[in-house]
Amino acid sequence: MLRSAAQRRVSKHAGVILLRLAALSLAAGALGAGVAAAATGGLDVAIGNAVFDRMWAQAPASTRNADGLGPLFSARSCASCHAAGGGRTTFRLGRDDPAAHPGLVIRLGDAKGRPDATYGAQLQPKGVAGISGEGAASVAFAAASHGLPPRPEWSVRDWGYGAPDGATRASPRVALSLDGVGILARVPEAAILAREDPDDRDGDGVSGRAHRMATPDGERIGRFGWKATEPTIEAQAASAFALDIGLSTTLRPDPAGDCTAAEAACRAGPHGAAPGEPEVAPQLMASLVAFLRARPAPEPAKSGGQGRRLFAAAGCAACHAPELPLDGGGTAAAYTDLLLHDMGAGLDDGMGEGAARSREWRTAPLWGVSAALAQGSGLLHDGRAADVSAALAWHDGEAAGARARFDALSANDRNALINFVNGL
Ligand code: HEC
Ligand code: HEC
Repeated sequence: MLRSAAQRRVSKHAGVILLRLAALSLAAGALGAGVAAAATGGLDVAIGNAVFDRMWAQAPASTRNADGLGPLFSARSCASCHAAGGGRTTFRLGRDDPAAHPGLVIRLGDAKGRPDATYGAQLQPKGVAGISGEGAASVAFAAASHGLPPRPEWSVRDWGYGAPDGATRASPRVALSLDGVGILARVPEAAILAREDPDDRDGDGVSGRAHRMATPDGERIGRFGWKATEPTIEAQAASAFALDIGLSTTLRPDPAGDCTAAEAACRAGPHGAAPGEPEVAPQLMASLVAFLRARPAPEPAKSGGQGRRLFAAAGCAACHAPELPLDGGGTAAAYTDLLLHDMGAGLDDGMGEGAARSREWRTAPLWGVSAALAQGSGLLHDGRAADVSAALAWHDGEAAGARARFDALSANDRNALINFVNGL
């Protein structure tokens, strides 16, 4: 078995794990995470975990299948941005330097979501030897107005390849937690569509629309990412390989990742792919998807009580749906509807993405808020909010009604509601 073609293609690292797992599972009575995983058919998951942690190297490297980094990239591994073995990044705006924190990426594009002609769809601050990075994230704060805190205004400094297009905007995104993504993947598209109300027929001020997109499999509904840009875990991982690490996959076969024609040195730079093959072998991708699919849902830190009722009464649940049905039965307590909502001017960064407009964001799942707060992560798509009330202060647009109802609660009730969300 260890000599099959498929396994010769896995990296040295994954190969070592494989050998260890095989040895361990032979040792009768031996217990451990590896054996438990193998026993539940989790060999793929263990390999996928190794792919997730792998530091990719510049081509050519001694282990083929572990090279192909860049030529332009944001980080060398999935794990560098998704802290603590697949968690949310710890980045918090105001405390951490956005140019020095790997868990924050800057997407580039205009109001209609068209990538920049020179820099592509994402800023890659780093390059392999001989290739300069594209620039560094930078933020300034607009003067406070209308009772809101100072609004972050994002830009890029030290552009490496000349001025970008005048219409290009910088749209920051913090790395999300991967806990429960396999469960979100099981929400039927029909259940997402059932909650849409684009023309607000029920007159509650909350509309919400699905992020529809054309894919090789026909029209699909996006559900992953802050703007629900990716319809499946595999598509999200392929996009991460392309934009974040500069690696090709079956879904995104260009080995130069996000390098544009204007970045000639990058296009001519070193690649890890043999002609006709992606840099990330399909088996490794399949294992990575199995690893992500197997990640458990976040555990709530405490149960709801009075706050749960207030959460519904204030109208938070109109978007942060406490339950979504799952294919195969059961429900997800993810507190999202996976729809896009217009959140108003304070969260508008001027850049669209796919069919999502610049003011529209996917309802952030609130499961995992307790874990995010415990590790000090900032909330909202750019990590600007230090806690739940700060996140709420930026709720406007379709969420203005809910915020107003929250503001009208007694201090005790506001506390109970916040405590409920703190515990999710
Ligand atoms: C440079 C930092 C960075 C790297 C490297 C990175 N990610 Fe991410 N990841 C992010 C950011 C930022 C988001 C949010 C993206 C968005 O909103 O479009 C994200 C989102 C995701 C999501 C969606 C979660 C959800 O709930 O919607 C998945 C799944 C994911 N990443 C998997 C991966 C995998 C697998 C890899 C390695 C192939 C990887 N990421 C590498 C930064 C990173
Ligand atoms: C109209 C839909 C809508 C309503 C109503 C709404 N939210 Fe949100 N919420 C969102 C969206 C969209 C985001 C992500 C915005 C962003 O990051 O730019 C979000 C983000 C959040 C976050 C940050 C989560 C994270 O992981 O960073 C918290 C906390 C939150 N909402 C709590 C609430 C509470 C409490 C209420 C009720 C008082 C509420 N929301 C009402 C749509 C809504």
